[in-house]
Amino acid sequence: MKVIWNKEIVDRASVKIDLEDRGYQFGDGLYEVIRAYNGTLFTIDEHIDRMFRGADKIDLKMPFTKEELKQLIISLIKENQIDTGNIYFQLTRGNGSPRNHAYPDPEKVTPVFTASTTVVPRDAVLMSKGVAAITIPDMRWLHCDIKSISLLGNVMAKHEAHKVGAFEAIQHRDGIVTEASSSNSWMIKDDVIYTHPDGNLILAGITKLVILKIAREAGLKVKEEPYTLEQLKQADEVFISSTTLEVMPVVTLDGASVGDGKVGPIVTKLQELYAQEVTRVCGELV
Ligand SMILES: Cc1ncc(COP(=O)(O)O)c(C=O)c1O
Repeated sequence: MKVIWNKEIVDRASVKIDLEDRGYQFGDGLYEVIRAYNGTLFTIDEHIDRMFRGADKIDLKMPFTKEELKQLIISLIKENQIDTGNIYFQLTRGNGSPRNHAYPDPEKVTPVFTASTTVVPRDAVLMSKGVAAITIPDMRWLHCDIKSISLLGNVMAKHEAHKVGAFEAIQHRDGIVTEASSSNSWMIKDDVIYTHPDGNLILAGITKLVILKIAREAGLKVKEEPYTLEQLKQADEVFISSTTLEVMPVVTLDGASVGDGKVGPIVTKLQELYAQEVTRVCGELV
């Protein structure tokens, strides 16, 4: 299995990252995960745009153009012959020696880029059965729009879910549902689909973007507005979304059934629309 290290495709074992890399010491970096179906990367431009926006927000100069990054990622997918799977890539502010919180002089920064691939089939069984989630206060920072590699808050939330055998933790801040630990959160009440608007409290999910588009095109009612924890608990249907999970139904919340405890009709419809969109871009799904 090959990986990308800076601009080269190399053997994983040959990668050397300095122990004073700011990604390693401070979590000073950004990441993305893109899904490949049939060897074609889905929404690659949107993911690359988000990394560039993130880099702007943290004053990190991207070491390549969008097109160069795109070609690099595509070449790794080809090299590793990934059919259905994920590519993970990250960019850090590089070696920051001597250790100092302040950003180094931009002239002296050499960002470190790495990328790797994993074969990840679509989990059709889980998508048809749905998952359990817990609700938990959102203890993270206030720049959740930045896809930062500093993920301790998210990691801790997910761990709370796993401790009680749940799949995901849906977070809330001041009574408002924000997002889950590694996915966006949605609820459906009286045929209206709700999700938190983009801003600093959530990550602007690329899957969210796709779902908003396909739902609106299909004439479904969508409101990108804040909703409360109470509303979530009274919802008819709940789901989470991410690059890997696509449209994943949530059938229990804190141990109580969502609606009748089965995957509901609007979530099922969104799953179909999502699969159609992926098929349109990447070809027939298996
Ligand atoms: C905190 C958080 N929110 C939302 C998402 C969903 O983003 P996307 O749909 O771009 O994968 C993720 C994905 O990793 C995430 O970590």
